[in-house]
Amino acid sequence: MSLSEELLATGRRLLINNYNRSPVVMARGEGCVLWDTDGRRYLDMTAGIAVCVLGHGHAGLARAIGEQAARLTHTSNLYYIETQIRLAEALSKRAFAGKAFFCNSGAEANEAALKLARRYQIVVRNQPDRTEFVACDNSFHGRTFGALSVTGQAKYRQGFGPLVPGVRFMPFADLPAAGVAIGDKTCAVIIEPIQAEGGINLPPPGYLHDLRRLCAERGALLILDEIQTGVGRTGSFYAFEKEGTTPDIVTLAKGLAGGVPMGAMLATDEVARAFEPGTHASTFGGNPLASAAAVYLQNALDELGLLRNCEEMGAYLHAALEGVVARRRPAVQATRGRGLLQGLVLQGEAGPVIARARERGLLVSAAGGNVVRFAPALIIGKSEIDEAVGVLDTILAEVS
Ligand SMILES: Cc1ncc(COP(=O)(O)O)c(C=O)c1O
Repeated sequence: MSLSEELLATGRRLLINNYNRSPVVMARGEGCVLWDTDGRRYLDMTAGIAVCVLGHGHAGLARAIGEQAARLTHTSNLYYIETQIRLAEALSKRAFAGKAFFCNSGAEANEAALKLARRYQIVVRNQPDRTEFVACDNSFHGRTFGALSVTGQAKYRQGFGPLVPGVRFMPFADLPAAGVAIGDKTCAVIIEPIQAEGGINLPPPGYLHDLRRLCAERGALLILDEIQTGVGRTGSFYAFEKEGTTPDIVTLAKGLAGGVPMGAMLATDEVARAFEPGTHASTFGGNPLASAAAVYLQNALDELGLLRNCEEMGAYLHAALEGVVARRRPAVQATRGRGLLQGLVLQGEAGPVIARARERGLLVSAAGGNVVRFAPALIIGKSEIDEAVGVLDTILAEVS
């Protein structure tokens, strides 16, 4: 029995079976490559589901984490934390200036956003009837009760009701539908600038801008969930920067600390007023260790020119995937995405293609049922993209 087989047997016995896991045990990584516990190599086009912005085993990030761990790992938010303040300062220089709350995951960031929006309407604006949330069909905002309640996909909600009441769903990227859904009871609209888990769905130009205007006209807040699209994934720090608009609240997680668990909710100064001492909290949120990793990542994004690399490599990957579409129609129908969040739309289910790719040492993931998602590290280069697209093209030639 190999080490991987041994570990898989123990894992299957002792871990709750809530993940659709591939039968692989990862051991270590370097850049865009992972090795399993039997020494097999995998080219990683998932980056831990859009998390490992700097790739795996990044020496500078590891050093920053190690040094901070030795200096001060955790203190709680009973006191101010130096690295947390430095992180808030770095984030305030990006395209959204305001105040930050730090937590540990995407779902928690969205929970904070929903709670802040409610409290703003009820307490600050004195509008006790504005309690409804408007969200989109096919959206994904996380698995906690609040985040799940605004997630517009039945497969995630099934068996968990009753969820948080007062959520209205509308079709994504449909402005007239938003005009009907947003009313005088709407507390906030929550939306992903690009639906990621839902299948890499991009709205038409102008949609987010117009949605923002509609929210402002009707007295509703706009929450942008940039948990997957933020931290440079689409070529700008936030995806909304390319839409000519800004939200009232924005949420981040995934890439924020390069693989150390961390989430953030940022709000305008006006809306942030709704949280006062004692109204919301997280023991670990923004602790010295996670914040040090995130500060390192903020600097690395700029020093390594990763936003530019993301745009260039994203365009290169998109063009390569267009080639696959042209060669492998009708099995492959289209490619869509922005920056290094790209999807290949298949005629059938993505699962079998992804499993075959993994057997050949290529890691990609599914978005929606029929989309193969590419969300590699932002440090990726052309040779890795060529290798990944080559493997996938061969598999698609076999299945089509
Ligand atoms: C857009 C979006 N929001 C929220 C989440 C939930 O994040 P987490 O799994 O860290 O709770 C995800 C995770 O995939 C996401 O893509």
